[in-house]
Amino acid sequence: ERYVLGVDLGGTKINASLVALDGKIEKSVVIPTMAHKGEKIVKGRINNAIEEILKTTSKEDILALGIGAPGPLDSKSGIIIKAPNLPFENFNITDSIKKKFSLPTYLDNDANAAAIGEYIFGSGKNTMNMGYITFSTGVGAGVIINGKIYRGSTGNALEIGHTTLDKNGPICGCGNRGCAEALCSGTAIAKKAIAALKGKVKTSLRKYKNITAKEVMREAKEGDKISIEIMEEIIEYIGICVGNMLVTFDPEKIILGGGLFSEKNYLLPKVKKVVQKRVFPKLVNSCSIEESYLGKNAGVIGAAAIAIMESDINEIGS
Ligand code: BGC
Ligand code: NA
Ligand code: ZN
Repeated sequence: ERYVLGVDLGGTKINASLVALDGKIEKSVVIPTMAHKGEKIVKGRINNAIEEILKTTSKEDILALGIGAPGPLDSKSGIIIKAPNLPFENFNITDSIKKKFSLPTYLDNDANAAAIGEYIFGSGKNTMNMGYITFSTGVGAGVIINGKIYRGSTGNALEIGHTTLDKNGPICGCGNRGCAEALCSGTAIAKKAIAALKGKVKTSLRKYKNITAKEVMREAKEGDKISIEIMEEIIEYIGICVGNMLVTFDPEKIILGGGLFSEKNYLLPKVKKVVQKRVFPKLVNSCSIEESYLGKNAGVIGAAAIAIMESDINEIGS
């Protein structure tokens, strides 16, 4: 058997998975990142997760290792420069993994990875021009142009979460004001809910101790007025992000993923309406806007797909 390893490093979770060359996950280890404990601890945790997988797989069967991480990053030197949702600066995530496991090791942006994953193994199969956007703790994206991922000149293209959508908007984790990520991420939803609770309004959100995007989406579905208002605003900005990608790249498909889209067919129809309202019919009508097929595994399968691609294993999708 021949496999690759995928590692998806997120602000809250590390997912290390053994992935077959057809994109199928054979084994996963998911553990908390514990980013607040510092770089060293996080590196150790990544190594432990990989070791856990190697316990039941012979190393000779593993061809390469791909890491997906939030950016901006420097893929060539294997460094995360300063991700808004990770408390590290110039974090060399690749060196120690390379040394310890002596596998060909590649680093790419988590959303680029997910885009490649969807393109090869998921909703993007059979397309030539495709976009992917994740709405989660952060907002990130990747785009496939003429069958190839577009990386830009520094490898950081499609940092769509940090496009300014409101010049007077809330401060973003990157330091800028009014970024998409500050307006329509999971973090933005939670912040809005917490702000609303400070007022005297009546809302079913009061019953929760710890409010995340999940609770707000649940209460909005149940008819809570405050939650609905929060979500309407979020949906408008998500639609703006999707519309901006659509007019910029004219892709045949835009795939939406991340925690906010984990609830099937909840946000999607509403987001589509916003896009229809804001973008040329010619473009809207020729683009299919869909939910991610790989779901919460898009990142890790994508990281594995990067390992397959970069190391030139030519059995992709077979
Ligand atoms: C980062 C992106 C990343 C996204 C999703 C953003 O804050 O800047 O690089 O793709 O979060 O994790
Ligand atoms: Na990206
Ligand atoms: Zn930002």
